[in-house]
This record gives sequence, C-alpha cells and structure tokens, in this order.
Amino acid sequence: MSGVNKNIVILISGGGSNMAAIVEAARARQWRARYGARVVAVISNKAAASGLAWAGMQGLATAVVDHAGFASREAFDAALMSEIDRHDPALVVLAGFMRILTPGFVQHYEGRLVNIHPSLLPAFTGLKTHQRAIDMGCRFAGATVHRVTAELDHGEILEQAVVPVLTGDTADTLAARVLAQEHVIYPRALERLLAAG
Ligand code: GRF
Repeated sequence: MSGVNKNIVILISGGGSNMAAIVEAARARQWRARYGARVVAVISNKAAASGLAWAGMQGLATAVVDHAGFASREAFDAALMSEIDRHDPALVVLAGFMRILTPGFVQHYEGRLVNIHPSLLPAFTGLKTHQRAIDMGCRFAGATVHRVTAELDHGEILEQAVVPVLTGDTADTLAARVLAQEHVIYPRALERLLAAG
C-alpha cells in the first residue's frame, strides 16, 4: 500500500457493526493524521442494509449495487468494481458482505482486499459457523481477519480472536460473544496494514 491518501472502502450487506467499529477506530486513533487513511465510502448489495443509514449519518459516501439487478456474478462484480474504483481505494474491506466474489474481482484488488470470518480459520469456512462449532463440541470459537483470495475463506490470516464456547450456548449467544471480538480485531488488523504500508 502506498500513496499519501489511503482511501478505505467498506462493503456491507447488513447491520454493519464491524463497519461502525472500523469507522470509530479510524477517528479515535487518528488514522488520517497518522497514516493518511480514511474511510471514504460504504457500499452495500442491499438497499435495506441498516448500516448504510448509519454511514450516511457519519457523512460517508454510500451506494447500493443490488446483485438482484444483474444477470450474472460477473456483471454484478463489474458494476461493483466500477463503484468501488471511483474512490481509488488502498483497501477494500469486506464487513459482513454476503456475496461470493468472482476470481476477476479478487484479482483486481489483490493485496488490497480483506475480510472477516466468524470462525477460527481454517476451521469452518462458509456459513453457519457458530452452530457448526457447537455441534462439533468445540471448546473454543472465534473470528479471523484474512486476506481474500479466489478460494472462499482462505488467504493469509492477519488477526484472530478466540472466545470460549460455554455450556448452553446457542448459535446466537456464541455469535454475540464472537462479534464483540470482531470489533476489536478488525480495526487492529487494518491499522497494522496501514502502519506497514
Ligand atoms: C459478522 O459476524 C461477520 O464476521 C460475518 O457477518 C457478520 C456481520 O456483522 N461475515 P456486521 O454486519 O458487521 O454487524
């Protein structure tokens, strides 16, 4: 990552609590002054994503690229890329963005694309991670920030957090415990990348 202005674009599909944690960390830890970095835009594939309204209230640019309006993944990804590239991003941050991206998209942002996944990768790639961890009898669960490669939920691990699985946990109680840690490790991982870049 180089250049004076390191623009960060965040992609969301839902509530955007990780996005909010990143925006707040960027402010509190003065990423602009220290790294020339700022979150410039939040883009969602769903108009109803509640995180979009929050982002708008923070004065961030927001946009919707609705996957339902495209005939193929390639066409959706092309539209998404052109929306993202308007902001000349140094980092593209997937934060609860629930679409599988094409190899072309991943290649276009190689070295700039990161994701958070609610499991201790390489265990439990894919969906329903918390229920699967409970069903397997795992004593520990967690979350992983990783670089994005063409293979789903693979790519270099940048940060992880571990939480206990407690007796009586449901997928929801475990998810809440993991999410609280996601809000800690995602800003930390991004700040480390910015500091290194
Ligand atoms: C997080 O658990 C993230 O790891 C997963 O989706 C959830 C998004 O939550 N991929 P939020 O939208 O950041 O609140």
